[in-house]
Amino acid sequence: MNSTENLLQEHLIVRRLASIAKRCSDVLYMNQDIPIEDIQIISVVIEEFVDGFHHGKEEKAYFPVTKYKNSFSEDIRKFLIEHEFARRIAKMLRRELESLIDHDLYNKTRELKWINKSKEPVARFLKSYSIFVFDHTGKEDIFFKKILEKHTLSEEEDLQLVKHYELCRNQTGGRTRIEEMIKLVAYLEDREWMK
Ligand SMILES: [Fe+2]
Ligand SMILES: [Fe+2]
Repeated sequence: MNSTENLLQEHLIVRRLASIAKRCSDVLYMNQDIPIEDIQIISVVIEEFVDGFHHGKEEKAYFPVTKYKNSFSEDIRKFLIEHEFARRIAKMLRRELESLIDHDLYNKTRELKWINKSKEPVARFLKSYSIFVFDHTGKEDIFFKKILEKHTLSEEEDLQLVKHYELCRNQTGGRTRIEEMIKLVAYLEDREWMK
């Protein structure tokens, strides 16, 4: 798989996570309960897999190499702004989630329970994140396919990028951690509230 196809493939996993976030948001809006642990998992996968690993690869490896080719710099500038926007949503989601957890009870019983407070902000940030993902990866897919069609990257550049991806993976927890993230996506898809 070349460096561009690699990112296209990863978008499939990112969009699976976005569908989970959307479903989770819908269920919370219906005022039904979802285990807090599950939403914590969504938040961790967003931060580690999407923001850290996937966007990291684009920002540190792929975009710096493609930026000076054709007239791609404007597209890339927009993608980077969108990544920052997404990180802000992820941070707000985490903060809201934290504020909903009854930490006193957890310290005493090790049991995670919601405190009696509106779940609306968590639902809203989950929804925003899923909208971001579908919009952003859709635009990037068009961009990546253009690069593939035009053979923008040389073989040498492509090899370098694939190597650089490995470095990015090691910086974000290594192969095992990334595989674990993908398993967590499958785990969430299998939860009762997803059906
Ligand atoms: Fe991106
Ligand atoms: Fe992407």
